[in-house]
Amino acid sequence: MNDANIVVLISGRGSNLSAILQSKMAGEVQAVISDNPRAAGLHIAESHDVATYVVSPSDFRSSHDWGAGLLELLTALSPRLVVLAGFMRVLPPSVVSAFAKKIINIHPSLLPHFRGLHPHRQALAAGATQHGCTVHWVSDVVDGGEIIAQESVQVFADDDEEKLAARVLAVEHTLYPKVLTNLLQTRAAG
Ligand code: GRF
Repeated sequence: MNDANIVVLISGRGSNLSAILQSKMAGEVQAVISDNPRAAGLHIAESHDVATYVVSPSDFRSSHDWGAGLLELLTALSPRLVVLAGFMRVLPPSVVSAFAKKIINIHPSLLPHFRGLHPHRQALAAGATQHGCTVHWVSDVVDGGEIIAQESVQVFADDDEEKLAARVLAVEHTLYPKVLTNLLQTRAAG
């Protein structure tokens, strides 16, 4: 019987997943789901003996069917928290409403600034002097749900997108496990 509480959704590299699996939250990760069969993060999960699932749109007739497949799997796994970690698709509304206040995401900007794609590029173009990352509840507005926690980094004059992304990513890797720990503790106590 697996009494872990978290299902992590990924699409690619999986460095946030790796940070979670190297933290004290490791034992809480019940399964990893990827929409991309080639996601490197799947190998990270396997190396930690975490169950992996691929729910790829290319295996379904329509995006509606893909959403239904994802919902069916999540419902069967019944996690206390669904953690988006570099999951590059918008979740279907059916999933968001079935897991209301149970889905969190990390976005690499200080929301509400720089929502959506290329937030580091957006921050540099806007001349921001502070940038960072945000953990937030997932709602039906992309990157628009209630903010749980943020952490800032400084933007330097000689930054390019790559340097800035690396500085933010390092902060993501400490913030996400910390927020997960707090959320599970709060819920256990509540
Ligand atoms: C991270 O910057 C995360 O904030 C964003 O996508 C990136 C995923 O990186 N949503 P990784 O797959 O966790 O390495």
